[in-house]
Amino acid sequence: MLETQLANFHRAESALLFNSGYAANLGFFAAVPRRGDTIFYDEASHASVKDGIRGSFATAYSFRHNDIGDLERRLSRATGAVFVAVEALYSMDGDQAPLRELAAFCQQRDLHLIVDEAHTNGIYGPRGKVW
Ligand SMILES: Cc1ncc(COP(=O)(O)O)c(C=O)c1O
Repeated sequence: MLETQLANFHRAESALLFNSGYAANLGFFAAVPRRGDTIFYDEASHASVKDGIRGSFATAYSFRHNDIGDLERRLSRATGAVFVAVEALYSMDGDQAPLRELAAFCQQRDLHLIVDEAHTNGIYGPRGKVW
């Protein structure tokens, strides 16, 4: 029931609950990006993202914090399905990712954008929703 409520809240097809954010990042990165795929992650990502990536068979590269130009320059190394991992609000610096620009960038190039919302889920917009 909770997963259904969360999916409705996010207007998503489905939701999957883990017992912590750390476990979610370990589980996601170990299971979804596969051998031959590529992950580009913001260098300021939380340790749980970095630990998750270490458990993945995909190849991973960091890019400069919030720097879409740097991400674009590194894209030439990509193989397979490409994942871009960011945080909506960074736990270390308290600054935000340029999500609209990142979403457009990823959509234009058919990249999968992964947004860790550990510090934003339910915080912004009326009733915690941005729509
Ligand atoms: C961005 C981010 N992702 C994941 C986590 C891990 O979440 P949890 O403390 O629920 O394991 C944290 C924890 O602070 C975090 O800041």
